[in-house]
Amino acid sequence: MRNFITIEGCEGVGKTYQTRLLKQYCEENGYNVVFTREPGGSEIAEQIRRILLDANNSDMDDLCEAFLYAASRIQHLKDIVKPALEEGKVVFCDRYVHSSYVYQGIGRGLGLDKIVKLNEIAVGEYMPDFTVFLDLSPENAFMRKGGADKTDRMEAVDYSFHVKVYEGYKRLIAEHPEQFEVIDASGTKEQTQAKLREVLQRRGIFK
Ligand code: TYD
Repeated sequence: MRNFITIEGCEGVGKTYQTRLLKQYCEENGYNVVFTREPGGSEIAEQIRRILLDANNSDMDDLCEAFLYAASRIQHLKDIVKPALEEGKVVFCDRYVHSSYVYQGIGRGLGLDKIVKLNEIAVGEYMPDFTVFLDLSPENAFMRKGGADKTDRMEAVDYSFHVKVYEGYKRLIAEHPEQFEVIDASGTKEQTQAKLREVLQRRGIFK
């Protein structure tokens, strides 16, 4: 059995915090897991991440951006995800192909089909078993966060972009409900964490 789980959501939903808490829980309970993230996650992939998120690169072409995310993904798969899965570990990845589908395919308007194809080339059979979507609208997320981080090239894109991204996720979930576990992230951090663990228990990842 392969256990490859991805975590998705808009900016400011608390993905990083929730993942950190989950990692701590796994360590305390002796689960054989790897936590990683995209873009980046390995040495070469982190170099690509820096180019992608550098606010000075505001002239980057949208298609160039899509290819760089895919390039980072290929390297990260090779360096981190594939070896861990081969060792029988459970891999949690903070963002993966679905981020590209919605940010580049829908948000940037490159077209979902095109970005799905590009990512098929990048990941082949390495699709996640399922994807946790932390559900919080950009309106609520940015309010909680106190606004966008302007030093991050992606976060700095205007608000309507993030609305498109959120709607993009909703569309993917409607079209592929079997792929997603949707978790309402509008409550407290503790409530969201409890829901997350419940899902992982039901899916047989946690005993
Ligand atoms: P990061 O600081 O890791 O943001 P977050 O904590 O929200 O995950 O930056 C990753 C940014 O890259 C984020 O704005 C989403 C974006 N992104 C894409 O546009 N396409 C992708 O394929 C991936 C993986 C991320």
